[in-house]
Amino acid sequence: MRKPLIIANWKMNHSIEDSLKFITVLQNKLTFKSHAEVVICPPYTALYSLSVLIQEKEGLILGAQNCYYGESGAFTGEISPVFLAELGVSYVIVGHSERRNLFGETDELISQKVQSVLACNMKPIICIGETINERNDGKTLGVIENQLKQAISLVDKKDLGKIVIAYEPIWAIGTKQNATPGQACEAHQHIRGLLVKIANQNLAHEIRIIYGGSVQPTNINELMREKDIDGALIGGASLEVDSFLQMINYHEIK
Ligand code: 13P
Repeated sequence: MRKPLIIANWKMNHSIEDSLKFITVLQNKLTFKSHAEVVICPPYTALYSLSVLIQEKEGLILGAQNCYYGESGAFTGEISPVFLAELGVSYVIVGHSERRNLFGETDELISQKVQSVLACNMKPIICIGETINERNDGKTLGVIENQLKQAISLVDKKDLGKIVIAYEPIWAIGTKQNATPGQACEAHQHIRGLLVKIANQNLAHEIRIIYGGSVQPTNINELMREKDIDGALIGGASLEVDSFLQMINYHEIK
């Protein structure tokens, strides 16, 4: 059984003070949930404060939005996966399309990051997804296949069960135009099929494939009802406590 993952990616939003307020309010409203793992990925500056707060109460897991692959050294401005692990970070988003497109991250760099995150006993959330032009040209499945193969090219087979794959079509990010459950499922099924070929049946069926791109309280339930969608990676709609809380409790939304 794959446990659903509900992940908040705050991107470059929320000061330390706002982050602490958010988590305090969320923890007060959240009764311990066993139906899903709930992960918060704040900006780096809030990671330490949140790690202290999150450790005090059950129910929330800390994630980071990015990291470098080197352990230490002359890499001005970068953050080592070792430092994230030291803070109690469990998940790291790798290869988000904003990192690829705005900051020039290549498939090769992403594969090195994935490998380093795993080496530090954390779980990479590997983001893949097509542009609208690629979709219109019928290239979606080829593009995500290529991104996935490259991202996991350095991963030891025994570690494959620890990865999470986030299918995030670029045209759906921040646009309020989510992929339909059918579009998401087509991509997720293709990804699962690839994993079966690359790993083996059992391992491939342990790997969670989550969806991201304009997930909202109004659409999360229909997406999560699909058996091939194992969770959600949520940007804008995760910034407000009440909206995020609704999405954690997606199964209660009518
Ligand atoms: P939105 O939920 O704002 O579309 O962002 C999705 C995303 O990029 C999550 O990583």
